[in-house]
Amino acid sequence: MLDIPQPRPRRSPRPRLKVSDEARFFKGWLQRPLIMGAVSPSSRSLGRAMAAYVPDPSAFDETSRVLELGPGTGVVTQCLVDRGVPESALVLVEYSREFCVLLKARFPKAHVIQGDAYDAAVTLGPWLDGCRLEAVVSSLPLFTKPDGKREQVVGGSLKEMRPGAPFIQFSYALTLPVKPERIEAQLQTSPWVKRNLPPARVLVYRAA
Ligand SMILES: C[S@@+](CC[C@H](N)C(=O)[O-])C[C@H]1O[C@@H](n2cnc3c(N)ncnc32)[C@H](O)[C@@H]1O
Repeated sequence: MLDIPQPRPRRSPRPRLKVSDEARFFKGWLQRPLIMGAVSPSSRSLGRAMAAYVPDPSAFDETSRVLELGPGTGVVTQCLVDRGVPESALVLVEYSREFCVLLKARFPKAHVIQGDAYDAAVTLGPWLDGCRLEAVVSSLPLFTKPDGKREQVVGGSLKEMRPGAPFIQFSYALTLPVKPERIEAQLQTSPWVKRNLPPARVLVYRAA
């Protein structure tokens, strides 16, 4: 049999996009290190670990919403869509204008809001009026804020959700950004996601 040389597979555009996401992210970190909280985007492994805690989207109705805080380049957002969360059910609150432009292009049916996630009027504004908040998924660098602000964003979100609905946060730290007893919540923690650099774990707060 003839050994016919195969043409080299063409590289898909995805890796190039990823490289530019990393460059974009690093530039953001140089400009605003405390807002970014990390030098590179989250890994898909971490995104999938976070998305796994969102309740089964097959039980959602048309009023269901999933609020994502600090979606950045949209790695976690894509994992939420892959889990089955309808793009139109996503409310994305991101501080960076540049990332908002990117998110609108990547998730055209999602509600993208440029604003401060610590401002309750923004996060719990008209986009959630009359809606069922199924989960909050946060990549906010909570440790750059004082305790009171962290407790307010996690505890305040839990008050808006039905009992048992999760506030899902990732963290690189061994200590907790919010002590669950301070906000009358229960906490579940995932195993460390070692394929993320640095390794991170998922913290899931639910109203006690
Ligand atoms: C650790 S990075 C997000 C990583 C994201 N999962 C990704 O892979 O691109 C934190 C993100 O939170 C955003 N952020 C930080 N503080 C914020 C705030 N107060 N309100 C909204 N977004 C904020 C930053 O702009 C950044 O995009």
